[in-house]
Amino acid sequence: MNIKENIERIRADFPILKRTMSGYPLDYLDSCATALKPQPVIDEVVRYYTYLGANAQRGDYEMSSQVDFALDAARKTVMKFINASRKEEIVFTSGTTESLNMLALMITNQLLEPGDAILTAETEHASSILPWQQAGYDKKIPVNFIEVDQDGRITAENVAAAFEKFPNTKVVMFAQVSNVLGFTAPIKEIAKIAHEHGALMVVDGAQSVAHQVIDVQDMDCDFFCFSGHKLCGPSGEGVLYGKFDLLEKLHPIFYGGESNARFSRSCESLILKRTPFKYESGTMPIEGILGMAVAMRYLQSIGLNDIHAYEWELKQYFLKRAEAELKDKVKVYNPKSEGGIITFNVFDKGQLIFPQDLASFLSSKGIAVRSGQHCAKLMGEILGVPGTVRASIYFYNTYEDIDRLVDALKEATVEKCLDIFF
Ligand SMILES: Cc1ncc(COP(=O)(O)O)c(C=O)c1O
Repeated sequence: MNIKENIERIRADFPILKRTMSGYPLDYLDSCATALKPQPVIDEVVRYYTYLGANAQRGDYEMSSQVDFALDAARKTVMKFINASRKEEIVFTSGTTESLNMLALMITNQLLEPGDAILTAETEHASSILPWQQAGYDKKIPVNFIEVDQDGRITAENVAAAFEKFPNTKVVMFAQVSNVLGFTAPIKEIAKIAHEHGALMVVDGAQSVAHQVIDVQDMDCDFFCFSGHKLCGPSGEGVLYGKFDLLEKLHPIFYGGESNARFSRSCESLILKRTPFKYESGTMPIEGILGMAVAMRYLQSIGLNDIHAYEWELKQYFLKRAEAELKDKVKVYNPKSEGGIITFNVFDKGQLIFPQDLASFLSSKGIAVRSGQHCAKLMGEILGVPGTVRASIYFYNTYEDIDRLVDALKEATVEKCLDIFF
Protein backbone atom coordinates (compact mmCIF):
# COMPACT_ATOMS: atom_id res chain seq x y z
CA MET A 1 0.00 0.00 0.00
CA ASN A 2 1.23 3.50 -0.69
CA ILE A 3 1.20 4.73 2.90
CA LYS A 4 1.77 8.39 2.12
CA GLU A 5 -1.26 8.47 -0.17
CA ASN A 6 -3.43 6.54 2.30
CA ILE A 7 -2.21 8.09 5.53
CA GLU A 8 -5.52 9.70 6.52
CA ARG A 9 -7.37 6.41 6.00
CA ILE A 10 -4.75 4.55 8.04
CA ARG A 11 -4.84 7.09 10.85
CA ALA A 12 -8.63 6.81 10.99
CA ASP A 13 -8.12 3.16 12.03
CA PHE A 14 -6.40 4.31 15.24
CA PRO A 15 -9.00 5.87 17.54
CA ILE A 16 -6.33 6.98 20.03
CA LEU A 17 -4.92 9.39 17.47
CA LYS A 18 -7.98 11.55 18.09
CA ARG A 19 -6.92 12.25 21.67
CA THR A 20 -4.81 15.16 22.78
CA MET A 21 -1.81 15.31 25.08
CA SER A 22 -0.98 18.46 27.04
CA GLY A 23 -3.68 20.19 25.00
CA TYR A 24 -2.10 19.36 21.63
CA PRO A 25 -3.02 16.70 19.07
CA LEU A 26 -1.09 13.54 19.94
CA ASP A 27 2.28 13.26 18.19
CA TYR A 28 3.18 9.67 19.13
CA LEU A 29 6.83 8.91 18.45
CA ASP A 30 7.29 6.06 20.93
CA SER A 31 6.14 3.03 18.95
CA CYS A 32 9.28 1.08 19.86
CA ALA A 33 8.02 1.08 23.45
CA THR A 34 4.60 -0.03 22.34
CA ALA A 35 2.59 0.44 19.16
CA LEU A 36 -0.89 2.00 19.07
CA LYS A 37 -3.82 -0.31 18.38
CA PRO A 38 -6.06 -0.16 15.31
CA GLN A 39 -9.84 -0.60 15.61
CA PRO A 40 -9.89 -4.21 14.25
CA VAL A 41 -7.58 -5.30 17.09
CA ILE A 42 -9.71 -3.51 19.69
CA ASP A 43 -12.82 -5.09 18.14
CA GLU A 44 -11.28 -8.56 18.37
CA VAL A 45 -10.57 -8.15 22.09
CA VAL A 46 -14.16 -6.96 22.59
CA ARG A 47 -15.44 -9.90 20.47
CA TYR A 48 -13.69 -12.35 22.77
CA TYR A 49 -15.27 -10.81 25.86
CA THR A 50 -18.70 -10.27 24.35
CA TYR A 51 -19.05 -13.48 22.35
CA LEU A 52 -16.40 -16.17 22.95
CA GLY A 53 -15.77 -15.78 26.68
CA ALA A 54 -14.68 -19.33 27.60
CA ASN A 55 -11.27 -20.66 28.60
CA ALA A 56 -9.20 -22.62 26.07
CA GLN A 57 -8.26 -26.31 25.75
CA ARG A 58 -10.39 -27.49 28.64
CA GLY A 59 -14.13 -27.15 27.96
CA ASP A 60 -16.49 -29.74 26.47
CA TYR A 61 -19.08 -27.30 25.24
CA GLU A 62 -19.54 -25.42 21.99
CA MET A 63 -18.44 -21.99 23.16
CA SER A 64 -15.21 -23.43 24.49
CA SER A 65 -14.41 -25.30 21.30
CA GLN A 66 -14.98 -22.05 19.40
CA VAL A 67 -12.18 -20.56 21.53
CA ASP A 68 -9.94 -23.55 20.75
CA PHE A 69 -10.68 -23.11 17.07
CA ALA A 70 -9.91 -19.36 17.21
CA LEU A 71 -6.61 -20.00 19.05
CA ASP A 72 -5.59 -22.63 16.53
CA ALA A 73 -6.32 -20.18 13.71
CA ALA A 74 -4.23 -17.54 15.54
CA ARG A 75 -1.33 -20.01 15.80
CA LYS A 76 -1.51 -20.59 12.05
CA THR A 77 -1.54 -16.83 11.43
CA VAL A 78 1.63 -16.44 13.52
CA MET A 79 3.23 -19.39 11.73
CA LYS A 80 2.63 -17.73 8.36
CA PHE A 81 3.65 -14.28 9.62
CA ILE A 82 7.16 -15.42 10.51
CA ASN A 83 7.24 -18.28 7.98
CA ALA A 84 7.67 -21.08 10.50
CA SER A 85 7.50 -24.52 8.95
CA ARG A 86 4.67 -25.81 11.18
CA LYS A 87 2.22 -24.39 13.69
CA GLU A 88 3.66 -26.56 16.49
CA GLU A 89 6.75 -24.34 16.39
CA ILE A 90 4.73 -21.45 17.81
CA VAL A 91 4.56 -21.29 21.62
CA PHE A 92 2.39 -18.56 23.10
CA THR A 93 3.99 -16.66 26.01
CA SER A 94 3.41 -13.34 27.73
CA GLY A 95 5.98 -11.61 25.48
CA THR A 96 9.62 -11.30 24.50
CA THR A 97 10.88 -11.08 28.07
CA GLU A 98 9.16 -14.26 29.16
CA SER A 99 10.20 -16.09 25.99
CA LEU A 100 13.86 -15.13 26.51
CA ASN A 101 13.77 -16.05 30.20
CA MET A 102 12.22 -19.42 29.39
CA LEU A 103 14.90 -20.09 26.80
CA ALA A 104 17.77 -18.99 29.03
CA LEU A 105 16.62 -21.30 31.83
CA MET A 106 15.81 -24.27 29.61
CA ILE A 107 18.99 -24.11 27.55
CA THR A 108 21.29 -23.36 30.49
CA ASN A 109 19.84 -26.07 32.72
CA GLN A 110 19.27 -28.75 30.12
CA LEU A 111 21.84 -28.32 27.36
CA LEU A 112 24.89 -26.48 28.74
CA GLU A 113 27.82 -27.55 30.87
CA PRO A 114 30.04 -25.45 33.19
CA GLY A 115 32.60 -23.67 31.05
CA ASP A 116 30.24 -23.22 28.09
CA ALA A 117 29.50 -19.60 27.22
CA ILE A 118 26.88 -17.26 25.75
CA LEU A 119 27.76 -14.63 23.16
CA THR A 120 25.89 -11.35 22.77
CA ALA A 121 26.58 -7.59 22.47
CA GLU A 122 26.66 -4.69 24.90
CA THR A 123 24.10 -2.93 22.74
CA GLU A 124 21.42 -5.47 23.71
CA HIS A 125 18.28 -4.96 25.77
CA ALA A 126 18.24 -6.01 29.44
CA SER A 127 15.71 -8.73 28.54
CA SER A 128 18.35 -10.31 26.32
CA ILE A 129 21.37 -10.10 28.62
CA LEU A 130 20.04 -10.54 32.16
CA PRO A 131 18.19 -13.87 31.76
CA TRP A 132 21.41 -15.55 30.51
CA GLN A 133 23.61 -13.91 33.14
CA GLN A 134 21.29 -15.01 35.92
CA ALA A 135 20.55 -18.48 34.55
CA GLY A 136 24.25 -19.21 34.05
CA TYR A 137 25.57 -17.75 37.29
CA ASP A 138 25.62 -20.89 39.46
CA LYS A 139 26.69 -23.15 36.63
CA LYS A 140 29.54 -20.79 35.70
CA ILE A 141 28.34 -20.07 32.18
CA PRO A 142 29.50 -16.53 31.38
CA VAL A 143 27.92 -14.05 29.00
CA ASN A 144 30.60 -12.66 26.67
CA PHE A 145 30.31 -9.64 24.40
CA ILE A 146 31.41 -9.08 20.83
CA GLU A 147 33.00 -5.83 19.72
CA VAL A 148 30.51 -3.67 17.83
CA ASP A 149 31.82 -1.52 14.96
CA GLN A 150 32.33 2.25 15.27
CA ASP A 151 28.67 2.94 14.39
CA GLY A 152 27.42 0.43 17.00
CA ARG A 153 26.62 -2.31 14.48
CA ILE A 154 26.82 -6.04 15.05
CA THR A 155 28.80 -7.52 12.16
CA ALA A 156 29.29 -11.11 11.07
CA GLU A 157 33.08 -10.53 11.02
CA ASN A 158 33.03 -9.50 14.67
CA VAL A 159 30.94 -12.54 15.57
CA ALA A 160 33.44 -14.79 13.78
CA ALA A 161 36.29 -13.06 15.63
CA ALA A 162 34.49 -13.58 18.93
CA PHE A 163 34.37 -17.33 18.30
CA GLU A 164 38.18 -17.28 18.09
CA LYS A 165 38.30 -15.49 21.43
CA PHE A 166 35.52 -17.48 23.12
CA PRO A 167 35.66 -20.95 21.54
CA ASN A 168 33.33 -22.41 24.20
CA THR A 169 30.39 -20.34 22.94
CA LYS A 170 27.29 -22.51 22.76
CA VAL A 171 24.57 -19.88 22.34
CA VAL A 172 24.63 -16.74 20.20
CA MET A 173 21.95 -14.22 21.11
CA PHE A 174 21.22 -10.96 19.29
CA ALA A 175 18.30 -8.67 18.63
CA GLN A 176 17.49 -8.58 14.93
CA VAL A 177 16.97 -4.82 15.33
CA SER A 178 18.55 -2.84 18.18
CA ASN A 179 16.03 -0.89 20.22
CA VAL A 180 18.50 1.95 20.77
CA LEU A 181 20.29 2.44 17.47
CA GLY A 182 17.91 0.62 15.14
CA PHE A 183 20.57 -1.30 13.22
CA THR A 184 19.52 -4.62 11.67
CA ALA A 185 21.93 -7.42 12.54
CA PRO A 186 22.89 -9.82 9.70
CA ILE A 187 21.18 -12.75 11.42
CA LYS A 188 21.36 -15.16 8.50
CA GLU A 189 25.15 -14.83 8.26
CA ILE A 190 25.54 -14.95 12.03
CA ALA A 191 23.35 -18.06 12.32
CA LYS A 192 25.58 -19.76 9.74
CA ILE A 193 28.70 -18.94 11.78
CA ALA A 194 27.00 -20.05 15.01
CA HIS A 195 25.94 -23.37 13.48
CA GLU A 196 29.40 -24.00 12.00
CA HIS A 197 30.68 -23.79 15.58
CA GLY A 198 27.91 -25.99 16.96
CA ALA A 199 26.17 -23.10 18.74
CA LEU A 200 22.47 -22.27 18.90
CA MET A 201 21.16 -19.02 17.40
CA VAL A 202 18.60 -17.14 19.50
CA VAL A 203 17.02 -14.00 18.04
CA ASP A 204 15.22 -11.25 19.93
CA GLY A 205 12.69 -10.07 17.38
CA ALA A 206 10.97 -7.50 19.61
CA GLN A 207 11.97 -4.56 17.39
CA SER A 208 12.03 -6.22 13.99
CA VAL A 209 8.81 -8.18 13.77
CA ALA A 210 6.60 -5.10 13.34
CA HIS A 211 8.79 -3.39 10.79
CA GLN A 212 10.01 -5.91 8.24
CA VAL A 213 9.08 -9.25 6.70
CA ILE A 214 10.28 -12.05 8.98
CA ASP A 215 11.35 -15.42 7.64
CA VAL A 216 12.69 -17.66 10.40
CA GLN A 217 13.45 -20.45 7.94
CA ASP A 218 15.51 -18.22 5.70
CA MET A 219 17.39 -16.78 8.69
CA ASP A 220 17.82 -20.33 9.98
CA CYS A 221 17.64 -19.16 13.59
CA ASP A 222 16.88 -21.79 16.22
CA PHE A 223 14.66 -19.55 18.33
CA PHE A 224 12.90 -16.25 17.67
CA CYS A 225 11.11 -14.27 20.40
CA PHE A 226 8.73 -11.32 20.16
CA SER A 227 5.82 -9.47 21.78
CA GLY A 228 2.38 -8.78 20.33
CA HIS A 229 2.07 -5.25 21.69
CA LYS A 230 4.91 -3.94 19.54
CA LEU A 231 3.13 -4.99 16.36
CA CYS A 232 -0.19 -3.25 17.18
CA GLY A 233 -1.53 -6.21 19.19
CA PRO A 234 -2.73 -6.08 22.79
CA SER A 235 -0.19 -6.21 25.63
CA GLY A 236 0.47 -9.34 27.65
CA GLU A 237 1.07 -11.90 24.92
CA GLY A 238 3.90 -12.88 22.63
CA VAL A 239 5.64 -15.78 20.99
CA LEU A 240 8.52 -18.15 21.43
CA TYR A 241 9.28 -19.71 18.06
CA GLY A 242 11.59 -22.71 18.15
CA LYS A 243 12.64 -25.29 15.59
CA PHE A 244 10.40 -28.28 16.19
CA ASP A 245 13.12 -30.80 17.07
CA LEU A 246 14.57 -28.41 19.65
CA LEU A 247 11.18 -27.76 21.23
CA GLU A 248 10.66 -31.53 21.32
CA LYS A 249 14.05 -32.08 22.97
CA LEU A 250 13.68 -29.43 25.68
CA HIS A 251 11.27 -29.66 28.54
CA PRO A 252 9.40 -26.74 30.07
CA ILE A 253 10.30 -24.66 33.10
CA PHE A 254 6.68 -23.88 34.00
CA TYR A 255 4.27 -26.62 35.00
CA GLY A 256 0.57 -26.64 35.77
CA GLY A 257 -2.82 -27.09 34.22
CA GLU A 258 -3.32 -27.90 30.54
CA SER A 259 0.34 -28.63 29.75
CA ASN A 260 0.18 -32.11 31.25
CA ALA A 261 -1.66 -35.13 29.92
CA ARG A 262 -1.40 -37.21 33.07
CA PHE A 263 0.29 -37.24 36.47
CA SER A 264 0.00 -39.01 39.78
CA ARG A 265 1.68 -38.92 43.19
CA SER A 266 5.05 -39.89 41.84
CA CYS A 267 7.11 -37.27 40.04
CA GLU A 268 8.19 -39.79 37.39
CA SER A 269 4.63 -40.40 36.27
CA LEU A 270 4.21 -36.99 34.63
CA ILE A 271 3.28 -37.18 30.97
CA LEU A 272 3.31 -33.84 29.21
CA LYS A 273 1.12 -32.86 26.31
CA ARG A 274 2.74 -32.64 22.90
CA THR A 275 4.66 -29.58 21.64
CA PRO A 276 3.72 -26.70 21.84
CA PHE A 277 1.07 -27.32 24.51
CA LYS A 278 3.62 -28.66 27.00
CA TYR A 279 5.02 -25.12 27.20
CA GLU A 280 1.65 -23.43 27.75
CA SER A 281 0.75 -24.09 31.39
CA GLY A 282 -2.17 -22.18 32.84
CA THR A 283 -4.70 -19.93 31.18
CA MET A 284 -3.29 -18.17 28.14
CA PRO A 285 -3.86 -14.46 27.44
CA ILE A 286 -6.56 -15.56 24.99
CA GLU A 287 -7.95 -12.16 23.98
CA GLY A 288 -4.39 -10.92 23.48
CA ILE A 289 -3.43 -13.83 21.24
CA LEU A 290 -6.56 -13.37 19.12
CA GLY A 291 -5.87 -9.62 18.93
CA MET A 292 -2.23 -10.26 17.97
CA ALA A 293 -3.33 -12.45 15.05
CA VAL A 294 -5.68 -9.69 13.83
CA ALA A 295 -2.82 -7.18 14.19
CA MET A 296 -0.61 -9.38 12.02
CA ARG A 297 -3.23 -9.56 9.31
CA TYR A 298 -3.72 -5.80 9.58
CA LEU A 299 0.02 -5.15 9.13
CA GLN A 300 0.09 -7.50 6.16
CA SER A 301 -2.79 -5.59 4.58
CA ILE A 302 -0.65 -2.42 4.79
CA GLY A 303 2.50 -4.29 3.69
CA LEU A 304 5.59 -4.81 5.86
CA ASN A 305 7.94 -3.69 3.08
CA ASP A 306 5.94 -0.52 2.58
CA ILE A 307 5.94 0.11 6.33
CA HIS A 308 9.72 -0.22 6.41
CA ALA A 309 10.17 2.08 3.41
CA TYR A 310 7.82 4.72 4.84
CA GLU A 311 9.57 4.78 8.23
CA TRP A 312 12.89 5.21 6.44
CA GLU A 313 11.43 8.07 4.36
CA LEU A 314 10.22 9.93 7.47
CA LYS A 315 13.55 9.39 9.19
CA GLN A 316 15.38 10.83 6.17
CA TYR A 317 13.03 13.81 6.27
CA PHE A 318 13.93 14.39 9.92
CA LEU A 319 17.66 14.05 9.20
CA LYS A 320 17.44 16.50 6.30
CA ARG A 321 15.64 19.12 8.37
CA ALA A 322 17.94 18.52 11.36
CA GLU A 323 21.04 18.92 9.17
CA ALA A 324 19.72 22.16 7.68
CA GLU A 325 18.19 23.71 10.78
CA LEU A 326 19.62 22.08 13.89
CA LYS A 327 23.18 21.29 12.91
CA ASP A 328 24.88 22.67 16.02
CA LYS A 329 22.10 21.72 18.35
CA VAL A 330 21.15 18.10 17.70
CA LYS A 331 23.49 15.12 17.64
CA VAL A 332 21.93 12.04 16.02
CA TYR A 333 23.74 8.84 17.05
CA ASN A 334 22.31 6.56 14.37
CA PRO A 335 21.88 8.46 11.08
CA LYS A 336 22.84 5.32 9.14
CA SER A 337 20.51 2.77 10.73
CA GLU A 338 17.89 1.32 8.44
CA GLY A 339 14.52 1.80 10.15
CA GLY A 340 12.51 4.54 11.82
CA ILE A 341 14.44 4.89 15.08
CA ILE A 342 16.11 8.26 15.67
CA THR A 343 18.36 8.41 18.73
CA PHE A 344 19.70 11.81 19.60
CA ASN A 345 20.59 14.44 22.16
CA VAL A 346 20.04 18.18 22.11
CA PHE A 347 22.63 20.72 23.18
CA ASP A 348 21.96 24.29 24.20
CA LYS A 349 25.05 26.41 23.49
CA GLY A 350 27.15 23.26 23.88
CA GLN A 351 25.44 22.12 27.09
CA LEU A 352 23.61 18.78 27.01
CA ILE A 353 19.91 19.07 27.76
CA PHE A 354 19.27 16.14 30.07
CA PRO A 355 17.26 13.65 27.96
CA GLN A 356 14.43 13.26 30.49
CA ASP A 357 14.07 17.06 30.73
CA LEU A 358 13.86 17.29 26.96
CA ALA A 359 11.25 14.50 26.85
CA SER A 360 9.13 16.39 29.40
CA PHE A 361 9.45 19.57 27.36
CA LEU A 362 8.34 17.69 24.24
CA SER A 363 5.45 16.19 26.19
CA SER A 364 4.28 19.70 27.03
CA LYS A 365 3.90 20.14 23.27
CA GLY A 366 1.99 16.90 22.76
CA ILE A 367 5.01 14.92 21.54
CA ALA A 368 5.69 11.47 23.06
CA VAL A 369 9.28 10.21 22.89
CA ARG A 370 11.36 7.89 25.07
CA SER A 371 14.37 9.14 27.04
CA GLY A 372 17.06 7.57 29.19
CA GLN A 373 18.91 4.32 28.59
CA HIS A 374 16.09 2.42 26.87
CA CYS A 375 16.72 -0.74 28.93
CA ALA A 376 20.15 -1.08 27.26
CA LYS A 377 22.19 0.09 30.19
CA LEU A 378 25.59 -0.89 28.77
CA MET A 379 24.94 1.26 25.69
CA GLY A 380 25.70 4.55 27.48
CA GLU A 381 29.32 3.48 27.81
CA ILE A 382 29.52 2.98 24.05
CA LEU A 383 27.89 6.29 23.17
CA GLY A 384 29.69 8.16 25.95
CA VAL A 385 26.54 9.91 27.23
CA PRO A 386 24.34 9.20 30.27
CA GLY A 387 21.28 8.75 28.10
CA THR A 388 19.58 9.69 24.86
CA VAL A 389 16.22 10.67 23.47
CA ARG A 390 14.58 8.18 21.10
CA ALA A 391 11.90 9.09 18.59
CA SER A 392 10.52 5.94 16.99
CA ILE A 393 8.45 6.28 13.86
CA TYR A 394 5.69 3.96 12.70
CA PHE A 395 3.41 3.86 9.67
CA TYR A 396 0.70 6.01 11.30
CA ASN A 397 3.12 8.93 11.77
CA THR A 398 3.09 11.84 9.36
CA TYR A 399 5.44 14.45 7.95
CA GLU A 400 3.64 16.90 10.25
CA ASP A 401 4.60 14.78 13.26
CA ILE A 402 8.24 15.17 12.23
CA ASP A 403 7.80 18.90 11.60
CA ARG A 404 6.38 19.34 15.08
CA LEU A 405 9.35 17.48 16.57
CA VAL A 406 11.91 19.56 14.66
CA ASP A 407 10.13 22.82 15.52
CA ALA A 408 10.00 21.88 19.22
CA LEU A 409 13.69 20.94 19.22
CA LYS A 410 14.51 24.35 17.73
CA GLU A 411 12.75 25.95 20.63
CA ALA A 412 14.28 23.76 23.36
CA THR A 413 16.75 25.36 25.74
CA VAL A 414 18.09 24.15 29.11
CA GLU A 415 16.01 26.82 30.81
CA LYS A 416 12.76 26.00 29.01
CA CYS A 417 13.16 22.29 29.66
CA LEU A 418 13.72 22.90 33.38
CA ASP A 419 10.77 25.31 33.48
CA ILE A 420 8.51 22.29 32.94
CA PHE A 421 9.28 21.20 36.49
CA PHE A 422 9.68 24.47 38.42
C1 LIG B 1 15.06 -5.35 21.75
C2 LIG B 1 14.05 -5.62 22.81
N1 LIG B 1 14.06 -6.80 23.43
C3 LIG B 1 13.15 -7.12 24.38
C4 LIG B 1 12.20 -6.20 24.76
C5 LIG B 1 11.22 -6.58 25.83
O1 LIG B 1 9.94 -6.64 25.31
P1 LIG B 1 8.69 -6.89 26.29
O2 LIG B 1 8.75 -5.79 27.30
O3 LIG B 1 7.51 -6.78 25.40
O4 LIG B 1 8.85 -8.22 26.90
C6 LIG B 1 12.16 -4.95 24.17
C7 LIG B 1 11.19 -3.92 24.58
O5 LIG B 1 11.34 -2.76 24.39
C8 LIG B 1 13.09 -4.65 23.15
O6 LIG B 1 13.12 -3.46 22.54
